[in-house]
Amino acid sequence: MISVQNYTDPYFQQVLDLLNQSKSFDSFTEPLLKEKMYDDPTWNPEHTWMALHKSKVIGFMQGVTRNIRGSKLGYIKLMAVHPEFRRQGIASRLFELLEKQLSELQMEALRIYDVPLNYFMPGIDPRYTPAVCFAEKMGFKKTGDAINMQVDLMATDWDASEKIAELKKASIEIKRATLNDKEELFDFISEDWMLWQNELEMAYRFAQPAIFIARQNGRLKAFAAYEGNNQGTGWFGPMGTHRDLRGKGVGNVLLYLCLSDMKHQGHTSATIPWVAPIAFYSHYANAVIDRVFWRYEKKLKNE
Ligand SMILES: CC(C)(COP(=O)(O)OP(=O)(O)OC[C@H]1O[C@@H](n2cnc3c(N)ncnc32)[C@H](O)[C@@H]1OP(=O)(O)O)[C@@H](O)C(=O)NCCC(=O)NCCS
Repeated sequence: MISVQNYTDPYFQQVLDLLNQSKSFDSFTEPLLKEKMYDDPTWNPEHTWMALHKSKVIGFMQGVTRNIRGSKLGYIKLMAVHPEFRRQGIASRLFELLEKQLSELQMEALRIYDVPLNYFMPGIDPRYTPAVCFAEKMGFKKTGDAINMQVDLMATDWDASEKIAELKKASIEIKRATLNDKEELFDFISEDWMLWQNELEMAYRFAQPAIFIARQNGRLKAFAAYEGNNQGTGWFGPMGTHRDLRGKGVGNVLLYLCLSDMKHQGHTSATIPWVAPIAFYSHYANAVIDRVFWRYEKKLKNE
């Protein structure tokens, strides 16, 4: 007999074990799963469903919501069914419950895994082929791809000191962000990059914030961060340079400072996730396209 119920905290370890048994291309640690669940800005155990067999968790589906530039979107953030219990309609049952809840919340559409602010992967890695089949059966349509790039941190020392000195001559100062810079940094991203605030909050959690900034004539004009998501996995980003300052090598220097920190912290490679400017990372960091993800959406008909 399989029963279905909402997630409660005592099941955390079982959910962690289930995810690790189910996802052949990924692994979860306790802090990582806590970040994905409890640190999500819309974490809600009522939108998080489990299937149990003889008191063991054999199915899991976490739902979250976002308001993305005025659009209300619902997401399957994580899902897994134990290999021995697949093709028995378990994920379908969990999805039916979640979809009903998210429809009642007037979500315009549902997506899978590509959750801005706090996400594990920016879509379905198609090597999880049953997940692709499941998404299509549930009525999702493929809308595009997302990629993660990978940087070999051992390939160079990421020394940016000469470039920093050159930029200084042009009145551009590069430094690690402190709490005193936080208000101005959040003000800076508020126009175009509001969706990155959560990741910068995460990067600010450390005694030495995992963020570097550039100021031109005293005004904050660029930043780069790491450890803003999937902490402990060598996750770079976000980064952004004001239009006025592009093309002067500022992004290059900020990127190198982050990669250098990551290397000193013991990482041998860095992930540059959900990349748009492929050529930038390829050129400066010899980053290569690594994982590819398929993005899916299902429009909801709201009354
Ligand atoms: C994806 C996953 C959650 C599906 O769980 P499930 O309980 O087996 O799914 P269901 O039994 O509800 O499947 C519903 C439908 O999805 C499709 N489907 C699911 N698995 C499939 C497979 N291996 N091959 C083809 N179609 C499949 C079928 O249409 C199925 O309906 P049917 O059995 O009546 O034909 C499960 O395969 C899993 O845990 N995979 C590993 C983890 C994972 O990939 N997570 C997502 C990473 S992005």
